[in-house]
Amino acid sequence: MSVKTRQIGPCFAAEVEDVDLSRPLSPDEVAAVHAGMDTYAVLVFHDQKIDDAQQLAFTRSLGEIEHAIGTSLRAPDEYRLPTTFADVSNLDKDNKIFAREDRRRLFGLGNRLWHSDSSFKAVPAKYSLLHAISVPSRGGNTEFAYMPAGYDALDAETKAEVEDLICEHSQIFSRQQLGFTDFTDEERARFAPVRQRLVRTHPLTGRKSLYLSSHAGSIVGWPVPEARFFLRDLVEHATQRQFVYAHRWRVGDLVMWDNRQTMHRARPFPAHEPRDMRRTTLMGDAPTVAQVA
Ligand SMILES: [Fe+2]
Repeated sequence: MSVKTRQIGPCFAAEVEDVDLSRPLSPDEVAAVHAGMDTYAVLVFHDQKIDDAQQLAFTRSLGEIEHAIGTSLRAPDEYRLPTTFADVSNLDKDNKIFAREDRRRLFGLGNRLWHSDSSFKAVPAKYSLLHAISVPSRGGNTEFAYMPAGYDALDAETKAEVEDLICEHSQIFSRQQLGFTDFTDEERARFAPVRQRLVRTHPLTGRKSLYLSSHAGSIVGWPVPEARFFLRDLVEHATQRQFVYAHRWRVGDLVMWDNRQTMHRARPFPAHEPRDMRRTTLMGDAPTVAQVA
């Protein structure tokens, strides 16, 4: 293996050493990165002096890009970055920090709830790659929870109960939890729920995990309040400290995670400071379950 990894924190996170993402990776290195993602679920590459084109090239060497179109409250003429990037910064298209009450910022606060990227899409994301251009003076960590560990720690009765459950995911559900309900009819239509299995099996390792996300707002066939409580309980269980790695960002870090096996959340930071993070995303292979019309 031509990529060296060193485990950090819990078993599912590792630093990758001696890799320069500004140049194209060899096929062996690409295979090693994938193998690293199968062994771990979070890989950290420090000190990457890369521009957007280099981040895109690295991402594309690993698979097909998922575009970020219509997934936020930014209008198309308000995009700061091309749709090959998910803009998870707090900056508008002129690189100005959003006002505290700006609804695009308030919607973005949803990233502070435990979630899996794009679980609200019929074909949800595989990997996310987040590069830190600027970081706030304090706070702003990203925390990752390892969902196979959460699954393994369930009792047998709960494992049997969750096995075939189907959840509905929508960004409307996650924002509802924050008291943000200020959606237009067009946005409500755009954020219509999709279905996801609650238990996923890793295609290579065969390990089961809980596919949870703040976007999950109902369980098919269950009364909503009961489903919400059940899901909240599972999230609480799966995000116990022993299952969590907290990443403290340095400028130049690129962190890659597997959305099929992890949840993550951003932690708070001062609202008047810029946090410029650029995310590229790899598309998943298929829906986790058939959708209904
Ligand atoms: Fe995210």
